[in-house]
Amino acid sequence: MSHIELTVLGGGNMGRALIGGLLRHGMRPEQIAVGESQEAARATLSRELGIAAAADNAAAIRKADLIVLAVKPQDAGSVLAPLAAQLQQRRPIVLSIAAGVRIQALQSSCGPGVPVIRAMPNRPAFVGAGVTGLFAPAEVDASQRTMAAQIMQSVGEAVWVATEDALDVVTALSGSGPAYFFLLAEAMVNAGVELGLPVETAKRLSIATLHGAGLLAQGSDGDLARLRAEVTSKGGTTEAALRTLQAADFNQLISRAVAAATRRSRELAEQFGGTSP
Ligand SMILES: NC(=O)c1ccc[n+]([C@@H]2O[C@H](COP(=O)([O-])OP(=O)(O)OC[C@H]3O[C@@H](n4cnc5c(N)ncnc54)[C@H](OP(=O)(O)O)[C@@H]3O)[C@@H](O)[C@H]2O)c1
Repeated sequence: MSHIELTVLGGGNMGRALIGGLLRHGMRPEQIAVGESQEAARATLSRELGIAAAADNAAAIRKADLIVLAVKPQDAGSVLAPLAAQLQQRRPIVLSIAAGVRIQALQSSCGPGVPVIRAMPNRPAFVGAGVTGLFAPAEVDASQRTMAAQIMQSVGEAVWVATEDALDVVTALSGSGPAYFFLLAEAMVNAGVELGLPVETAKRLSIATLHGAGLLAQGSDGDLARLRAEVTSKGGTTEAALRTLQAADFNQLISRAVAAATRRSRELAEQFGGTSP
């Protein structure tokens, strides 16, 4: 990425997280331009990351090979539409992280010929441990895909999905997923406290357990059932707990929760003017 000129439109939380990741991965500040409407956010970018942001988006995209669209979903159309002529002339890649804004809606704001890619990162990107689902339509070529994936890999892993529809499942699984883990951690803390542990002890044990289990899973071959079996001795404590969870249909409950989040993602997408692909 040493040669590309990048513009981030929207220097808020996720925009800043991405820029921080890119700088940590060797991108130089002078390769990055930002268009950001809020003066306070521009000052934060300059203070924390040494990036000069502009209030004028047209000026910010002047040299861009790739534009990350990181404004709120409801602002995506009004940010892109005034830039359409410039975009069609230069044809930078437009990589949108705006949740739920469909390719069709983005393309109609940018105009024909502009390569548009969607990405759905998640909150652990803020600490460089995110995972991003990516989708690109067929007309986006391999080098454009590689460039988009490299940008998102600066804050974690990147995974391509085959259909735009699948991004709603990505949103439900990895986008909302951190909240499922926080809920599990909270429930574990409460259980520990009910059984007599001091709250701080229960918190440290629960958070470190989730972190360590995540590291073990990530360092494995992905066989989660085997990992579970390895910590579940016959007749032991873990087996007693898992039996209780399974009796309450834990797997079904999680399936229903992820399905509800997927449905909600589709409903929200319809509000941003895109029907389900
Ligand atoms: N945060 C996450 O965990 C996460 C995860 C996945 C995807 N995303 C997606 O990432 C996008 C950004 O989220 P965020 O949490 O970073 O939001 P955010 O903190 O509100 O950042 C968006 C920034 O864009 C600015 N902006 C608004 N209109 C603009 C314009 N015309 N030109 C330039 N900048 C403009 C906003 O200013 P104002 O505040 O004045 O509007 C704000 O500073 C969203 O579309 C969201 O769906 C976020």
